[in-house]
Amino acid sequence: MFSSKNGILHVEEVDFKEIVRKTGTPVYITSKRLVEENINELKRNFDFAFPLYAVKANNNLALMKIFARNGFGADVFSVGELYLALLSGFRGEEILFNGNSKSDDEIRAGIKAGVKFSVDSMDELHAISRIAAEEGEEVKIAFRVNPDINPETHPKIATGLRTSKFGLPADKIIDAYKTALELPNVIPAGIHCHIGSQILDVSPFVEEIERIFDIAIQLEELGIELEFLDMGGGFGIDYHADGKCRFETFSDPIREAFEKGLERIESEPELWIEPGRSLVANTTVLIARVNSVKKSHYNFVAIDAGFNTLLRTAMYDAYHRVAVANKMDEEVEETYTIVGPICESGDVIGRERKLPRVEKGDYIAVFDAGAYGFVMSSQYNGRPRCAEVLVDGSRFYITREAESIADLIAKQKIPEELFR
Ligand code: LLP
Repeated sequence: MFSSKNGILHVEEVDFKEIVRKTGTPVYITSKRLVEENINELKRNFDFAFPLYAVKANNNLALMKIFARNGFGADVFSVGELYLALLSGFRGEEILFNGNSKSDDEIRAGIKAGVKFSVDSMDELHAISRIAAEEGEEVKIAFRVNPDINPETHPKIATGLRTSKFGLPADKIIDAYKTALELPNVIPAGIHCHIGSQILDVSPFVEEIERIFDIAIQLEELGIELEFLDMGGGFGIDYHADGKCRFETFSDPIREAFEKGLERIESEPELWIEPGRSLVANTTVLIARVNSVKKSHYNFVAIDAGFNTLLRTAMYDAYHRVAVANKMDEEVEETYTIVGPICESGDVIGRERKLPRVEKGDYIAVFDAGAYGFVMSSQYNGRPRCAEVLVDGSRFYITREAESIADLIAKQKIPEELFR
């Protein structure tokens, strides 16, 4: 869906320059066809599981609507994500409200929307029971289990480690369910787990599923009927090649582990998965303009997108493929380090990349930017957030206008006395 025509990057049938003329740079451009392709691939490989789209990966409403229309549930992590999910058409009962620090207001909003809860602590359990009783509602819950599994990924995105803040350890979880059984207005209906993100090896997922069933057996002994076992998201993609997720490398071992687990229990829970990155990362390219090129210790290309626009490289040393969007067919000539406009030396988008000769006014394409891209952007250094665009064949839609300087001050108030 990203191709070169006469050396110019096209997203589906649209010349990126046509978009940039309307939105300016930086801009995130998403291919609708790639989103649909990922959805089909996931569904083909995971026909035995119910997918909840992990909204945190990309909460652009147009994109979320595509997932809602394709029958996905939603994993939300805040009241903001909850409202975005409802607005894009996800149904309350197919939303799982995750999070390790929910306020009472957030819990109440979730209960009113009829969502299910992943419960992270005993404090939260008591709050849900109390608020559900006040609202006269019954709420289905799953505890988030911390399985103590160490997948091979960046430590900042491994969430199921013993030391991680998420969930309750396996040896505390049975007592937690016992308490839930005694409390009014909460119905234990599932188990929730998530071991981390950008995981490329299937074995930690298989281990995770085995751990989930170890707990499921004990819950059945308490008389709990399990409706869902949620293994979370985390399927990794190939950032170095095409940005795709090889769903087929995950699905068979996971299916086998799940089927084997089902033989160990009486109830017939659904398997839930919460993919984010694997569905959206490769669908989107970030286009930025070159402001200057200079020879220093390195050959620096300074573009107008830094970690204010795409945080992943600075935060996780992540690798994103780059190209010169207006010189797609030119020979590679030089090695460049691509940096942003932010006043920090960690503001690097790509280190020592081989590219055609780059000049001021060229455009740099940063690929696989659809997951944890715009959502993690900020106004740091007084830079408004950029636009987002959805391409569908030969048409494109601006799905989010770029912010302006006015947005930097929109919520600020200067105390009267500072004018005296
Ligand atoms: N479910 C839960 C409970 C999660 O915490 C996450 C991600 C997901 C599902 C989706 O995981 P995915 O399929 O996208 O791997 N900002 C980081 C990633 C943080 C992931 C947080 N949790 C990055 O840019 O790599």
